[in-house]
Amino acid sequence: MAARLIDGKAAAQVLRERIAAEVSRFRERAGRAPGLATVLVGEDPASAVYVRSKNRATAEAGMVGFAHNLAATTSEEELLQLVTELNADADVDGILVQLPLPPQISAARVIETIEPGKDVDGFHPMNAGRLATGLPSLVPCTPYGCLYLLKQEIGSLSGLNAVVVGRSNIVGKPMAHLLLGENCTVTIAHSRTRDLPSVVRGADVVVAAVGHAEIIRGDWIKPGATVIDVGINRVPTADGKGRLVGDVDYEEAAQTAAAITPVPGGVGPMTIAMLMRNTLIAAYRRAGLTDPEGL
Ligand SMILES: NC(=O)c1ccc[n+]([C@@H]2O[C@H](COP(=O)([O-])OP(=O)(O)OC[C@H]3O[C@@H](n4cnc5c(N)ncnc54)[C@H](OP(=O)(O)O)[C@@H]3O)[C@@H](O)[C@H]2O)c1
Repeated sequence: MAARLIDGKAAAQVLRERIAAEVSRFRERAGRAPGLATVLVGEDPASAVYVRSKNRATAEAGMVGFAHNLAATTSEEELLQLVTELNADADVDGILVQLPLPPQISAARVIETIEPGKDVDGFHPMNAGRLATGLPSLVPCTPYGCLYLLKQEIGSLSGLNAVVVGRSNIVGKPMAHLLLGENCTVTIAHSRTRDLPSVVRGADVVVAAVGHAEIIRGDWIKPGATVIDVGINRVPTADGKGRLVGDVDYEEAAQTAAAITPVPGGVGPMTIAMLMRNTLIAAYRRAGLTDPEGL
């Protein structure tokens, strides 16, 4: 039986409309729109595309965007100076520094310099620690988007076996904490995991965040499992253009899973919607207002 397709594009659209409505309410109460500053260093084409999409989504949500495009030769000191200025800017609620950064700049130092209340990527150690200890925080956008799709698809996740493949600070680790927070029994797999297929076969919920095209095969998927594919990998095609695939072999896994996200059109659109959500939440908190309900 073919799995249900989890339509992240449609879910993100609904979420973005709700966020836009909350932005209007914020404007009425605070007398200004939430503001998001994006910082792009260098000309990496993929990063430029991501940042453009984020800036467009900011405007569509009725928020104010402050786009900073810096040369690839920017020094760490110059970038830290800009982040410090954005920290102090009352009109800026969220700061997003697009990764990766050029080699002369330490991403860790930049992340640690962002004011935790404006850290809409949720990467600051303060926000990571608060998530790990179950305190309110700004949560990384991609795993939060995955959780949103899972809850929409399954409802309660309590007691389910969840396997997260990948342990990055950006996706795998925060994803595991979020699933633990929903009372899943969580396994985090990585490149040293022995017998990955058998680990994945025990999962009611699989979240794949590896970065290897179609590494997870259909016969690893437990019948009836729900599969969230975070991976974005470009594979060559005969026409030379290439095409995007996930970390899961979609055609194979769809034979066994109950539901699965496609690539593209699954997790990707949710990431941007959650960035808008985090910016809105940061604005509410900075204005001393209670978080809007249900977001
Ligand atoms: N849809 C979106 O919006 C979005 C957002 C972020 C990332 N992504 C995509 O998600 C993927 C993962 O991103 P990331 O930033 O988390 O990547 P990352 O930092 O490179 O982490 C990859 C993880 O996969 C593990 N891994 C590598 N090879 C493995 C193998 N053969 N078996 C099991 N585990 C293996 C690594 O293990 P070790 O720790 O042992 O090295 C690591 O923990 C990428 O394709 C990225 O493009 C998508």
